[in-house]
Amino acid sequence: MTGFDAPTVIKAKRDGGRLSDDAIDWVIGAYTRGEVGDEQMAALLMAIFLRGMTGGEITRWTAAMINSGPRLDFSDLRRDGARVRLVDKHSTGGVGDKITIPLAPIIVACGGTVPQASGRGLGHTGGTLDKLESIPGFSGELSVAAIRAQLGQVGAAIFAAGELAPADRKLYALRDITATVDSLPLIASSIMSKKLAEGAESLVLDVKSGSGAFLTDPEEAAALAATMVELGAGYGVPTRALLTDMSVPLGRMVGNAVEIAESVEVLAGGGPDDVVELTLALAAEMLDLAGLDGRDPADTLADGSAMDAYRALIRAQGGDPDAALPIGACRETVTAGEAGVMGDIDALAVGMAVWRLGAGRTVPGAAVQAGAGLEIHRRPGEPVSAGQPLFTLFTDTAEKLGPALAELDGAWTVGQRPPPPRKLILGRVEEEKS
Ligand code: URA
Repeated sequence: MTGFDAPTVIKAKRDGGRLSDDAIDWVIGAYTRGEVGDEQMAALLMAIFLRGMTGGEITRWTAAMINSGPRLDFSDLRRDGARVRLVDKHSTGGVGDKITIPLAPIIVACGGTVPQASGRGLGHTGGTLDKLESIPGFSGELSVAAIRAQLGQVGAAIFAAGELAPADRKLYALRDITATVDSLPLIASSIMSKKLAEGAESLVLDVKSGSGAFLTDPEEAAALAATMVELGAGYGVPTRALLTDMSVPLGRMVGNAVEIAESVEVLAGGGPDDVVELTLALAAEMLDLAGLDGRDPADTLADGSAMDAYRALIRAQGGDPDAALPIGACRETVTAGEAGVMGDIDALAVGMAVWRLGAGRTVPGAAVQAGAGLEIHRRPGEPVSAGQPLFTLFTDTAEKLGPALAELDGAWTVGQRPPPPRKLILGRVEEEKS
């Protein structure tokens, strides 16, 4: 496509205009090919961040990102002679959000098939692939042929988006370093371009709000959910969303390997109540949407079938589910000064602390520390005695402990009364039937 140039497109959005379909197709294509520079795209992203996009612009921007790479199709896959039900879930990102790790095996144990294009950490939020790659040997870099074979054999594959929506790969990295992550049109198009290209036939979204989410305001999160549900419907992929709270971290463990350890606890029938509640709620939505009503997902945790599916998934991607998980050698424990009850713990502060410990990136493409993380010994509402450990921080780099501890300063309280109870699941958004 000719006749466009980046300054004119940037100016149109900067001045509050609507980008034409052709302008969107051109700018996404030219950026993916390297003909529009990062500095130009950064300016356009900031203009979108400040000015927003119409529904029509978001739809076209998402389509252009999908069209920047192949769209996978596994609809011909058969297991035991029968057509498989391809269903996935995606979260808008949170702190301690390890839900995919127990969830995908539960769905497999219930008869579903999960093709999951997954992300790496973004800002203060952890990435499922970074967590899984802390398992010795595990790799998320799978070819399409390997994904197909694995879906047929073990029923799930969790993989780097790779060639899928390559425009998003570049944009995601650029947004991370230009303060343009927390924008409804950019989040919706980023998530849905990957999800609509990965070959899932139905999709459940976990759309978070609260301090640890990208969109902190519940109403904005609900609007994001509605936008993504509509984008899914437009592509013939039935999509539903749960609106969930991300004001406090999920579970007791935040980081890379430590979140794998907590996920394995859930798969063994234990684990923190909030992680189990959200995992089972999302599982119920996925099974319903995929038309799989044969098994109660909770039974797969009780009878070990989800654990078997997890072990098969990890092995299929080169990991050793029995290997010891890395843990940072440098530690610091925060203790309670006085007795009382643990108050709320700010999710953003914990996410930032864990990022500073080395669990996330400061430079795009850099390695993360598998053993970096934080353990929450006392969750909101739990009793605390004076001198009791409240948090333990882990890292391989001793100098990272100070800045991480500083992030936690003022992010928690011990009081005399428990904090008001919090609902984890705030609502649900589904396609409007016409
Ligand atoms: N997850 C994504 O894949 N993209 C975003 O923009 C935010 C969360």
